Amino acid sequence: MNKPVIVALDFADDFECINFLNQFPKDEKLFLKIGLEMFCQFGYPFVRNLRERGYNIFLDLKLHDIPNTVRRTCEMIAKWDVQMLTVHASGGAEMIEAAKAGLDGSQTKLLAVTQLTSLGQNELANELQVPLKSQDYVTHLAKLAFDNGADGVISSALEVPMIKDVTSPDFLCVAPGIRPKSAQVGDQKRVATPAQAKELGSDAIVVGRPITQVSDGHLAYVNICKEWNK
Ligand code: C5P
Repeated sequence: MNKPVIVALDFADDFECINFLNQFPKDEKLFLKIGLEMFCQFGYPFVRNLRERGYNIFLDLKLHDIPNTVRRTCEMIAKWDVQMLTVHASGGAEMIEAAKAGLDGSQTKLLAVTQLTSLGQNELANELQVPLKSQDYVTHLAKLAFDNGADGVISSALEVPMIKDVTSPDFLCVAPGIRPKSAQVGDQKRVATPAQAKELGSDAIVVGRPITQVSDGHLAYVNICKEWNK
């Protein structure tokens, strides 16, 4: 797989989203992340529409349920011909295996979310009662995902070297929380520039607001791609 810049489509309505996409030249085959917000509103027809327009799709549904339910859901998604799908690694070994089995025969890469970036050391210790350092918990969950058939993880770019260390250089690390030097950090905490993410070994980056919430989204995208591909 080429190392893509994935654009996070976090829009409140599909009209706004299509207007955003129309800024790009027709032959620009974007890789788009559809998250829960848009999926809950527009569902599979929206995914199909974007696939028919030739876009690659990262379906970020972060599945987390009993293995049987996850397998059956993945069997359905396997028919949608999307490029990536997420589950929570904390669903456990059997659930990750079930997700992979459900996707069998499709091109869809299974990515596991390790520790949500919204959970810090304090929440880990006090709310989830996990007695590990955050970084050890992340590598533990990454290894669990790797051992049970996931193709990769979603992780901060800063975690990529240690994840590749405990898994394999081929285990995909897809990094959100990307901010070019000039962009607003917003609510993201562990951020990296596209160049840093590349240097740290990320296989793909996910960028939302620095592309979707600026006046010239196409120009912002082109500049981020230049920095990422340098
Ligand atoms: O706008 P921004 O570039 O911060 O968007 C990042 C995208 O990546 C959002 O869709 C967010 O939900 C997603 N994401 C994240 N951190 C994770 C997993 C997903 O920011 N750990």
